[in-house]
Amino acid sequence: NPARRAISGWAARRDLRRQAGAQQASTGPSNQQMLVYVPPHPLVKHWLAVVRNVATPSALFRGALGELGRILTYEALRDVLPTIDGVVDTPMGEAEVTFIDPNRPVKVIPVLRAGLALQEQATSMIPTSATYHVGCVRDDTTFEPSTYLNKLPAELSPDELIVVLDPMLATGGTMMSVLENITSRGAQAKNIRVISVVAAPPALKKISEKFPGLKIYTAIIDPEVNEQGYIIPGLGDAGDRCFGTQ
Ligand code: URA
Repeated sequence: NPARRAISGWAARRDLRRQAGAQQASTGPSNQQMLVYVPPHPLVKHWLAVVRNVATPSALFRGALGELGRILTYEALRDVLPTIDGVVDTPMGEAEVTFIDPNRPVKVIPVLRAGLALQEQATSMIPTSATYHVGCVRDDTTFEPSTYLNKLPAELSPDELIVVLDPMLATGGTMMSVLENITSRGAQAKNIRVISVVAAPPALKKISEKFPGLKIYTAIIDPEVNEQGYIIPGLGDAGDRCFGTQ
């Protein structure tokens, strides 16, 4: 079936990247498709093991998600952060240097609740960023998302760099609704980076069909989503585990 073929295509690209240790987005025709990147780094594996473990206490769980937020955002910004060149005086003389352009802040959008755990570490790494919170809750039976908080600016320009943070991409309903909201304000999918921790095929399929060109950075792609909308094996309810509300 076409869905399975598409998903094994992503998985194949992920595996190729793992083997090659590739560090950048692909070029050529696949640039038009959504790209899922799983950094082949031992620290990503380590922090993923910590968040998967049911015995991990809430404070450590939140800290580990933060570490993943930092590493995955670092990877996601590698080839896109706008820079400016200049000259500074070192104690020993002049040096040509490159700065992050302070006039083009990265717009970071954490999806509440669990996206908050990725946000602090992600933004502490970026010299100029602006954070716009979006709160979504999904219905336990229909999985339909509803937005209870929307701090997005009325307009976003097409060349703006946007980072969306949500650790769990399961059915994709919440992320689709957030992305529709963002693009309806003028942002372009090719300038959006989604940072997740565990992604599953139903979400990847939905997002790729509607938002070609968008890039997702995740610690792992898990095989399935159960009838309750949880990723298997996943890590459970990320929001509850972050905030100790289980
Ligand atoms: N949201 C979560 O927190 N966990 C899942 O497994 C799926 C969605």
